[in-house]
Amino acid sequence: MEYQRLYNWVKLAGAASELEFGPNQIALAAWDGRPICIGRYKNRLFAFAYKCPHASGLLSDGFIDALGNVVCPLHRYRFSISTGHNVSGEGYRLRHWPVEERPDGLYLGLPFTGPAPPDL
Ligand code: FES
Repeated sequence: MEYQRLYNWVKLAGAASELEFGPNQIALAAWDGRPICIGRYKNRLFAFAYKCPHASGLLSDGFIDALGNVVCPLHRYRFSISTGHNVSGEGYRLRHWPVEERPDGLYLGLPFTGPAPPDL
């Protein structure tokens, strides 16, 4: 049986067009009062942490490079916005979450934290 991650989907906005993307292809959103970055790459949206896992640089001030990595403005470490992998090789991991655009809004996938179903 293929492993499938479970998410609790929470509504971030009424539509993606409500987000204000800068020229860096990053918009700032909020969930439960906490800031979260939304990155746009090849017409897809990805959510990732507001602060860099290295030394808390504000990733909303970074940019998305040509390969779909967020580049931190402080020390230029790069992280894949789809996997969180530290592609510049320093060994950190960026928290990231899936985003879905649905007819009724923009949703953020938070990992399911309840009890696992018996077949997992
Ligand atoms: S704080 Fe982001 S690379 Fe150092």
